[in-house]
Amino acid sequence: MSRIFSGVQPTGNLHLGNYLGAVRNWVKLQHDYECIFCVVDMHAITVPQDPKALTASTREVAAAMIASGVDPKKHIIFNQSQVSGHAELAWIFNCVARLGWLNRMTQFKDKAGKNRENASVGLYAYPNLMAADILLYKATHVPVGEDQKQHLELARDIAAKFNNDFGVENFFPLPEPLILGTATRVMSLKDGTKKMSKSDPSELSRINMTDDADDIAKKIRKAKTDPEPLPGDDKGLEGRPEAANLLGIYAALSDSTLTETVAKFAGEGFGTFKQHLADLAVAKLGPIQDEMRRLLDDLAYVDSVLKDGAERANAIAEPIMAEIKDVVGFLTVR
Ligand code: AMP
Ligand code: TRP
Repeated sequence: MSRIFSGVQPTGNLHLGNYLGAVRNWVKLQHDYECIFCVVDMHAITVPQDPKALTASTREVAAAMIASGVDPKKHIIFNQSQVSGHAELAWIFNCVARLGWLNRMTQFKDKAGKNRENASVGLYAYPNLMAADILLYKATHVPVGEDQKQHLELARDIAAKFNNDFGVENFFPLPEPLILGTATRVMSLKDGTKKMSKSDPSELSRINMTDDADDIAKKIRKAKTDPEPLPGDDKGLEGRPEAANLLGIYAALSDSTLTETVAKFAGEGFGTFKQHLADLAVAKLGPIQDEMRRLLDDLAYVDSVLKDGAERANAIAEPIMAEIKDVVGFLTVR
C-alpha cells in the first residue's frame, strides 16, 4: 500500500510557494494515495513562537488545506502535537541519526545563521522529527517543495540505519520524495535568487493565501524585474531569475509548461505580462480565499476536522509505535 505523509509549519500564513510547491500537489495526489497531512506545530517551536499566534496559525493552515481541496473525510488532516508518537519516535531517531549527518543540513545553517551557539537544540534535531513524522505511519511517498529534498534523504538514511542496526530488513520503507510541477521552488518577488518564505521581513516578497485581489495585483506590479522585454525562448531566461520566476508562477497557475508560457509572452514587456499574471493569480486564488474565510468563521468545524484527524492518525500510529518499541527492546508491561 502506498501512503503519503506531508506537513506544513504553522508559522504564519501559507504563501504561494507553499501552495504551488506542496498543497496543490497534495490535492491532485489524493485520488491515488491514502494521505496524511499534518500541521507540524512541534516543528514550528524550533524557533520562538507567540503561543496565541501559533494556535491561530494552526487553524489557519488547516483551513487553507481544506479550502485548497484536500478532502478531510477521505484523508487525514491533524496537528502533530496531538499524536504523541511523533515525539516518542523522534527521540529514538535522535539516537539513530549521527551528528555528522545533521551537520550537513543546509536548512539548519540558513536558519541558525551566524549565531549558531544560540540556536535551539530542537532546530538542530528538526530533521529527525521530520523523519519520525513520516515513518511513524510507514509512509512511502512524501510530496514537498525542492527545499525539503535534503531532509528527505536524511529520513531515508535514518530508516535504512534503523532497519540495519536492529536487523529488521524492510521494517521501515525508504520514503520517496515527490517533487512535482513547474513551481517546485518559488522565489521571492523582490529577489529572484531567494526562496519565497514566511520569514522574509518584506511583505512585498510573497503572495499570501489570505491576500485580497488588490494586494495580489500590487505585489505583482511591484515585483522586481529587469529592463529587457520577455525572452523568445527558454534559453533566454538564463541569468534572468526574476523573469524565470514570474513566468514559472504563470505556468504553474495556468497548468501549462514553462516552454508554453515563454512562447505565449515572447517579446512582451513586463507591464503587460504582469497584468495577465495578476488576473490569473486572482482568478485561481480568489475562490480558495473565499472558502478559507468561510471556514475561519466556523472554527468549531475546523477543530472537529483536527480532532477527527488526530484520532484517525493515532489509530494508525499506535500499533506501529508498539512494534517499534518491541524492536528497540523497550519493555511494555501489558
Ligand atoms: P514550510 O512553510 O517550510 O513548512 O513548507 C511547507 C511546504 O511548502 C514544504 O513542502 C516546502 O517544500 C514547500 N515550500 C515552502 N516554500 C516554498 C517555495 N518558496 N517554493 C516551493 N515550495 C515551497
Ligand atoms: N520540514 C517541512 C518544511 O518546513 C515540514 C515538514 C515537517 C514535513 N514534517 C514533514 C514535510 C514530513 C513532509 C513530511 O517544509
